Amino acid sequence: DSETGAATEAFARDYGFVGARDILANGGLLALPTETVYGLAADATNAKAVAKIFAAKDRPSFNPLISHVPSLEAAQRHGIFNDDALTLARQFWPGPLTLVVPKRADSPIADLTSAGLDTVALRVPDAPLMRALSHALDKPLAAPSANRSGRVSPTTAAHVREELAGRLDLIADLGPCKVGVESSVVLCSDRVPATLLRPGGLSTDVLEQALGRPLLRAGTDDNTPRSPGMLTSHYAPSVPVRLNAEDVKDGEALLAFGPDMPTGADGAVKVLNLSPKGDSFEAAQHLFAFLRELDMEGVQTIAVAPISNDGLGEAINDRLQRAAR
Ligand code: TXA
Ligand code: MG
Repeated sequence: DSETGAATEAFARDYGFVGARDILANGGLLALPTETVYGLAADATNAKAVAKIFAAKDRPSFNPLISHVPSLEAAQRHGIFNDDALTLARQFWPGPLTLVVPKRADSPIADLTSAGLDTVALRVPDAPLMRALSHALDKPLAAPSANRSGRVSPTTAAHVREELAGRLDLIADLGPCKVGVESSVVLCSDRVPATLLRPGGLSTDVLEQALGRPLLRAGTDDNTPRSPGMLTSHYAPSVPVRLNAEDVKDGEALLAFGPDMPTGADGAVKVLNLSPKGDSFEAAQHLFAFLRELDMEGVQTIAVAPISNDGLGEAINDRLQRAAR
C-alpha cells in the first residue's frame, strides 16, 4: 500500500536499502517491521547469523524460527505444499499467515532455523522492505518477533530499541505495524488434518472458510500437534496481569475494551481502552503498545476487561492468557 511504500522510500533514502542488504549478506541482524510486529531478521541459510538471533533474544534453541520469502514460488523451494497449504497460501499471501510444512531435503534453510525439525515455517509477509530484501539477496530471512524471549512483542521501532538496543546492527524504523499481533500459524502436512498452531492476525473463521472445514486446534488433546513456541510463558509485562476483570482494585491499571467500564474504573492508576467501540482489529493494533505503557511504576497489577473471541479476539486472548501465566 502507498503508506508503506512511502515509508520504505524514506528508509531507503535515510539508511539505504543497500546498507540493510549488506548487513544481512554479511551475517548481521536487522530489525524491520512486518504488517504484524517488528521482526529481528537474519539470513535463514546462515547458521552463524541465525545463532546471533537466538543469542540476542535469549531464545531457547528448541524454538524454531519463521523463514520469510517474497513469494509462494520461493516458499516452494523450501517446503512441500499439499492442497490445503496451496489454498491458504494463494488466498492469504502476502499476509499475516505462517504455514508449517514438511521441509524439503534440498532446502538451504539452516537446521538451527527450523530447530532440527523435519518441518519448516514459511511466510510471505505484507511488508515490502522484507520481501524486497529477501528477493535481492535470494535468501529466505529468518525473523522472530524483535523482543527478548518471553516478553511483549514490539509494534514500533522504539519498542525494539527498548528490547534489543546494542544487540543488533540496524533498526529500520518504518512506523507502527498495522495488524499488531503475530501471524496465524497453520500446520499443513499429510500426517494430520490442517492444524491451527497459533491464533493470530487472520481470524480463524476466515481460514476455515477458505479450507471449507474446521481446523484442528493445537494441544486440545495429547494427540494433536503443538508448536514449541506455545509451551512457554510469553508476552509477560513485569507486573502481574489479571484477566476478565469485572472490577478494578486498589493499585491496578485497567486495560479496557469496548464501551462498558468495569466497576471502580475511576479509581484505576491508569486506564487505556483497546477499542472504545469494541472492534477486535483496532484492539489488536493497540494490544502490545498498551501492555508496555501500563507496565509502569505505581502499578501493582494490570486488570484486563473481558474481550470476546470474535475476529482477532482469539489471538488477543491467547496473548493475554500467556501474559497472565
Ligand atoms: O507475525 C509473525 O509471525 C512474526 C513476524 C516477525 O513475522 N514472527 C513471529 O515469530 O511471531 P516467532 O518466532 O515469535 O514465532 C514463531 C512461532 C513460534 O511459536 C514457533 O514455535 C513456531 O512459530 N514455529 C516455527 N517453526 C515451527 C515448526 N517447524 N513447527 C511448529 N511450530 C513452529
Ligand atoms: Mg515472538
